[in-house]
Amino acid sequence: MPLPFIASLVFEGLPPWFPDPYLLLKSGTALSALAATKWYSSGRLNTSERKLHGRVVLLTGGTSGIGAAVAQELASRGAQLVLLTRHEQADPFLVEYIQDLRERTNNHLIYAETCDLSSLYNIRKFATKWIDNSPPRRLDMIVLCASTLTPPGGKRTETEEGIETTWMVNYLANFHLLGILSPAIKAQPFDRDVRIVIPTCSSYIGSPKLEMNQVLDSKYWTPGKAYARSKLAMMVFAKAFQKHLDAYKRPDGLPMNAKVVIVDPGFARTPGMRRWLTRGSLLGLMLYMIFYLFAWLFLKSPFMAAQSFLYAAMDGIFIRVPGGKLVKECIEVDCARKDVEDEEVAKKLWEGSDKLIETVEKESAIKRAKLKQKEKEKEEEKKSAEQVEEIEALINTIKKGKAKESTKKNSGADKKSKTPGKEAK
Ligand SMILES: NC(=O)c1ccc[n+]([C@@H]2O[C@H](COP(=O)([O-])OP(=O)(O)OC[C@H]3O[C@@H](n4cnc5c(N)ncnc54)[C@H](OP(=O)(O)O)[C@@H]3O)[C@@H](O)[C@H]2O)c1
Repeated sequence: MPLPFIASLVFEGLPPWFPDPYLLLKSGTALSALAATKWYSSGRLNTSERKLHGRVVLLTGGTSGIGAAVAQELASRGAQLVLLTRHEQADPFLVEYIQDLRERTNNHLIYAETCDLSSLYNIRKFATKWIDNSPPRRLDMIVLCASTLTPPGGKRTETEEGIETTWMVNYLANFHLLGILSPAIKAQPFDRDVRIVIPTCSSYIGSPKLEMNQVLDSKYWTPGKAYARSKLAMMVFAKAFQKHLDAYKRPDGLPMNAKVVIVDPGFARTPGMRRWLTRGSLLGLMLYMIFYLFAWLFLKSPFMAAQSFLYAAMDGIFIRVPGGKLVKECIEVDCARKDVEDEEVAKKLWEGSDKLIETVEKESAIKRAKLKQKEKEKEEEKKSAEQVEEIEALINTIKKGKAKESTKKNSGADKKSKTPGKEAK
């Protein structure tokens, strides 16, 4: 059968039903180009594998996007996950999400703790509860995936405590959280491979310089600058935090076993990215859906974006090398800015952040105390009003009783006066 067909091709040329070979070639080239683009933009897969049974992982941002993919992968390898979320533990969405994650990963050691990263007070409440535990709780990994961003053209917002939101959630919250958890990290036994995984974004390269007086000033704020600056700050802090850990003298005299790894996941189709691309508008969302093919082609899936996080969480190389490495596409890369390594910048950032936290925490403690006092006064007023009401009700019933008695007496006297015969008898 193939031989006559080949012979007819050789002697008579292509049959009339055969498509135009140039068209075939063009389509083939276009499809290969698409496949190559998709393959390239999807990035590299993590090849490091490790069972994580018994390892305790604190994860922020585990309810959405890349964080959710990281949560799923870590949980399916057996890690005990503690998701830090801004939701209350009884929130129906959270309860359902955790239940679903437990079923999908066949891992029932997944919990949630409330830790709203837009509130220094909330972070302190969670973190102090964690370190106050006696004996010290096991802690093998902290993965800080949570972040926020304002879409282009959006307005600058502040948290309830008065700090610019992007700076607070993306940087200061992590600074505060790791600062308080630092004793718990240092207290882990030497044979434990402790890791702190910190995400960044290549937008840090275009960030303005880190000047503490500009960070909170609305004059120097645009959505893009705020996001990029928060990522640069996080990288500077990540390096400084590793030095802070390394400087600790362990009671057993052994070197520090906790390693910070910075991860650039690449651009991915997450809710955060969608908000950025659509500018948070309905029209933007419509355009996003119409041109979804481009997003699919050029942006990674959350699963692929999670690969460098998994590499940072599992690869054995990080036990042997100094901490503070930057990972992109599952390999170590150099930082593109010198100020990430600059000790003077790090010192100013650390001191400025400490000062800001102290001031804001003091102010909000005073506010909370005043609010509590007001609530107490209101409660007391309510109580005394209730007491007055009770006394008045009592007086009224006594009065009513007396009135009844006197009417009874009067009616008795009337009856007597109306029946003189009886009286005479
Ligand atoms: N996507 C990208 O293209 C890209 C590129 C480079 C770097 N990154 C980095 O990768 C990380 C993950 O990004 P993503 O795009 O996956 O993020 P995302 O989809 O926007 O998710 C953000 C997560 O942060 C949580 N979060 C926000 N505000 C919070 C608060 N006040 N307290 C506690 N949690 C809060 C959210 O919780 P809720 O579920 O409650 O909203 C959500 O789980 C981020 O650090 C981001 O900067 C992402």
